[in-house]
Formats: sequence, structure tokens, C-alpha cells
Amino acid sequence: MIMSNKKPFIAGNWKMSKTIPEAVELVRELNEASSELTEAEIVVIPPFTALNDVKNTLPGSSIQIGAQNFFWEEKGAYTGEISAPMLKDAGCAYVVIGHSERRQYFGETNETVNKKIKASLAHELLPIMCIGESFEEKEKGKTINKIETQITEGFEGLEKKEISQIIIAYEPIWAIGTGLTATPNQAEDVHRFIRNKLAENYGNETGSCAIILYGGSVKPANSYSLLKEEDINGALVGGASLNSESFIEIIKEAIKAYKEK
Ligand code: PGA
Repeated sequence: MIMSNKKPFIAGNWKMSKTIPEAVELVRELNEASSELTEAEIVVIPPFTALNDVKNTLPGSSIQIGAQNFFWEEKGAYTGEISAPMLKDAGCAYVVIGHSERRQYFGETNETVNKKIKASLAHELLPIMCIGESFEEKEKGKTINKIETQITEGFEGLEKKEISQIIIAYEPIWAIGTGLTATPNQAEDVHRFIRNKLAENYGNETGSCAIILYGGSVKPANSYSLLKEEDINGALVGGASLNSESFIEIIKEAIKAYKEK
């Protein structure tokens, strides 16, 4: 699949929220609005239990589905885990890898992120790789350093062709679920660094075509100004994606910003 950042890419990460009926209702509302939103790539990322019903609610829809996590082995005695082929089977096109909550509560590291990226690409599941610094790291001026390490170690052993299939989500940990957002300038500085780094290591085309998302308290009121920045191609939205109205509003604002840049 060839990736393009010609349209804003807006993904809703529902985290551990929504029963199956709630998930179906939300996605039905989004689907009803989707004909007005064709100028954006829209992805919903429900909990595993709702994947199949969400997929069945979206036949022929342009809204795509992602999963929040998986394990890198294909199958076997790994109680409690879910593999990439299983996610494909459930209708997923994308998978989130290395979200800061996975790193914080479930011991994920740059090394496990690297294994998961390789396994997802091997099964044609597009990875949305999350990176970002903590509040302390930001205060100590270590943001760029942290981002650079996460990218270098997360991409270890990958070829240019593979790198161009990875969506990067910059999510400052201090902005996730806190109501604090990086200012558009702060976010743009990091996004530009990421794009330049990709260009330097994997060529200009990889850098310029990369899809780099911002995440952390994205809401209708700030999505326009964030998406207006040159190197911000979309958003990974948590809390505000749990309600169809606010998620649709974010997508509309993103489309507007993209047209004007
Ligand atoms: P939030 O979450 O929008 O609720 O801050 C973002 C995320 O964790 O992806």
C-alpha cells in the first residue's frame, strides 16, 4: 500500500471504552456523517471485543479500522494475546504500537516496539507507532533526545521500504488525557525534527511522504491550529473520539486546516 499525506489522517483511539452496543452506535453515527468527510482518512480503533461488530457496521464504508495492540508471534501458547493475522481477520488495516500507556503499564520498550513493527508489516497491517516525552524530560530539555532514541531503536533493522509504511504519532505523555496540549509551535518543532530525521536516514521522499500525527488532548477547539502546521498530518485522538459529535468536528476542522495550508 502506498502511503500519502495529501489528506489529514484522523484516528480515534477508544482505549478501554465502549461495550459492543455502544461501539456500534458510535460508528453508525460516524458512518452517517462520512459522506461529508471524504477529504480525510478516518480510522476508528475500538477495543478488541468490538472489532468484529464495528467491521460489520461499516460495509463499503471509507472508515477504516485499527487495533490498539497485538503480540508479535503468529500463533501458539501465548495466553491472553492476539496476533497480527487475527487482527487482519477481524478487519483491521492498522495497529497502534508502543502507546505510552502500554509502555507505562505493560512494560513495552523500544525493543518490543521494534518487534511489533516488523511483525505488523510482515502481515500488511500498518503500524501507528507512538513516541513522546514525559513532563520531566520536557522540563529538562530532553524531548528531541528522547524522540531520536525512540525512532532509532524502534526502527532498528528496518529497510527504507518498510519505514515508508509506518505512521508516527508524536504524543507528549504530559498532554495525554490531561487537557494540556502542546502548542502548535511546540508540536511542529518535534514534527519537523522527525521528518528531517527520516529524510536524513531514509531519503527525501520518505521524509516528505511520511504521515506524522499529533496526539494528546486533541479536541475540536485545537485541531484546526495543530493541523495547520506544515508537518502535522493528522491526529490520534483519545477522549474526544468517544463522542461522534466531537470526533466529527475534529475531522471537519482538520479538513479545513489542510485546505488552507
Ligand atoms: P487524549 O489521548 O486525546 O485523551 O489525550 C490521546 C492518546 O492517548 O492517543
